[in-house]
Amino acid sequence: MPTVYLNGQFLPQEDACIPVTDRGFLFGDGVYEVIPAYGGRLFRLPHHLQRLQNSLDGIRLKNPMTDTQWEHMLGELLEHNRHAAGDTNDQAVYLHITRGSAAKRDHGFPETVTPTVYAISSPIPETDPTIKQQGLSAITLQDNRWQNCDIKAVTLLANVLLRQQAVDAGAAEAILIRDGFAIEGSASNLFAVLDGVITTPPKSKQLLPGITRDLVLELAKQHGLPWKEAEIRLSGLEQAEEIWMTSSTREIIPITQLNGEPIGSGQPGSMWIAMARHYLDYKKAVRAGKAG
Ligand code: PDD
Repeated sequence: MPTVYLNGQFLPQEDACIPVTDRGFLFGDGVYEVIPAYGGRLFRLPHHLQRLQNSLDGIRLKNPMTDTQWEHMLGELLEHNRHAAGDTNDQAVYLHITRGSAAKRDHGFPETVTPTVYAISSPIPETDPTIKQQGLSAITLQDNRWQNCDIKAVTLLANVLLRQQAVDAGAAEAILIRDGFAIEGSASNLFAVLDGVITTPPKSKQLLPGITRDLVLELAKQHGLPWKEAEIRLSGLEQAEEIWMTSSTREIIPITQLNGEPIGSGQPGSMWIAMARHYLDYKKAVRAGKAG
């Protein structure tokens, strides 16, 4: 049974309760973060806390903690759940803040309310080696989400339905299309290798500014791999040499089939192999305390 953090207390998950009047429950009125920790060290914490701040600003909710308080609380949470995380002590933190609980259900913000803060950490399982060898499949679907996808809101019904449509089609991810352009996945960012250049859509309100995405671009820069931020047409995506999806939990996944057709050779490509190695080296440096 994992230990969770709820409103100032560490307690067993089964004892953690929130009132049915919580606005997260009633309206999906909240934001969240997912932060990996490798060897017990939080990965890119300042980047995650900055994105959390941006999400809170986006829904006009005051940050209930300082960065130092977040760091201490999350560090303590990782310690509580260390026993379940095996030798590597790799864990993923899920952090969830809602506008809190108000007696009356009313769409407008309550005058005084205390945010609900919940966090849990769980072991990160090893990536299945067959994914690295064979890649995964994706389908394209129309992006029917709202206009503020840069906010990491807990209101994820559109993403849930899109992902399930992919699952029903036997695919691992849905790549979302708006006005003929590929934007991102239902829970991941999108990269395509086009004419030898690692390409990802520029940041905008249409997509979540992924922490993994930014690191992939940093690593490309650092290791002299060609990269650019540019819009990706659906027609271009279909002809891509490689497609990757990135997220904190899945890291960098090679997509080798799109809508049932092979991408490139139908195997993870050479650029992905190079980037996956750089990413692994970066994780090792985090474990050793030599990178953040
Ligand atoms: N999702 N885009 C969307 C819509 C996402 O939900 C996510 C991550 C990403 C990648 O962001 P990052 O690299 O910072 O994890 C992009 C998390 C993992 C989730 O919802 O569980």
